[in-house]
Amino acid sequence: MKKIAVFTSGGDSPGMNACIRAVVRTCVFHKIEVMGILHGYDGMIRDEFISMNAKSVSGIIQRGGTILKTARSSEFLTQEGMQKAKANLEKHGIEGVIAIGGDGTFKGALEFGTLCSIPFVGCPGTIDNDLIGTDFTIGYDTAINTVVEAVDKIRDTAESHDRLFFVEVMGRDAGLIALRSGIGSGAEAILISEAKTDFEKLIQHLKEGRKDKSSKIVIVSEQGGTGSVLQLSEKVKKELPFYDIRVSVLGHIQRGGNPTCMDRVNSSRMGFSAVEALMAGKKQVMIGIINNKIAYTPFENAVKHLDEIHPDLQRMMRVLAV
Ligand code: F6P
Repeated sequence: MKKIAVFTSGGDSPGMNACIRAVVRTCVFHKIEVMGILHGYDGMIRDEFISMNAKSVSGIIQRGGTILKTARSSEFLTQEGMQKAKANLEKHGIEGVIAIGGDGTFKGALEFGTLCSIPFVGCPGTIDNDLIGTDFTIGYDTAINTVVEAVDKIRDTAESHDRLFFVEVMGRDAGLIALRSGIGSGAEAILISEAKTDFEKLIQHLKEGRKDKSSKIVIVSEQGGTGSVLQLSEKVKKELPFYDIRVSVLGHIQRGGNPTCMDRVNSSRMGFSAVEALMAGKKQVMIGIINNKIAYTPFENAVKHLDEIHPDLQRMMRVLAV
């Protein structure tokens, strides 16, 4: 392996920069040339390749976002786009590629593998934590800490006004951000798409809880409620008119900010291991960390949808949230 390229793709996540840094510095250590590709698959198509060295990744371990920029490419899904990307990788003499991204990134790499034999190794970069083959994805820990910090603040004002808050958090169709941040912030209820929302039970729970506690926080994952979070709050207001209700959608603040130490260390381990995996001849696999050990999961398994998440955590949550 003489020359490797690295890129970030899909939604950015805190820790991607730490991962890029680890890839570049591991390549330098092994005397492998390394290029960065800007704007994900779009940059591969448009020939946005840049040379990188140990210095080009100085001072980035603590920064959120991605210095390589990112995109969700629709052109890469076409045969023409993939042909252009292949031609550019060959033009630059790339012998292995490290893709940092989520399920869309790895689905793209799988498809690309049918026409290009250059090996790809992936690092799981997404705040959603919705990939099989790793306990934690890059950015998830930072995102849930951001949510907990925000909900702690919302709790102060909710408490002061005796209010009920519905807080919508990210995760696309996965409820892992909601579940963990909801437990961490002591939410009274967590609504996720993996566990069907029982509206009647929710109403009963909020009604009964009114006697013991003045403030209430309900964490709702994107697509976790029935309809939008606003529709849900209006439905609840009709049933429980005595509640003073507010809605807060946390949005993209969950994707930014300095990565936590956990994210920096995990991202560094994954970037480092991705280079060594390519050197060892591995391809079309995602690097993950399971039980604190590096694991390799074929792309086709990594992107499978999680239908059920942590029944043990869900049960505990219901016991603790009175
Ligand atoms: O996949 C990461 C994520 O932040 C999801 O949680 C969210 O649904 C989506 O990306 C938002 O994407 P965009 O930034 O393109 O609006």
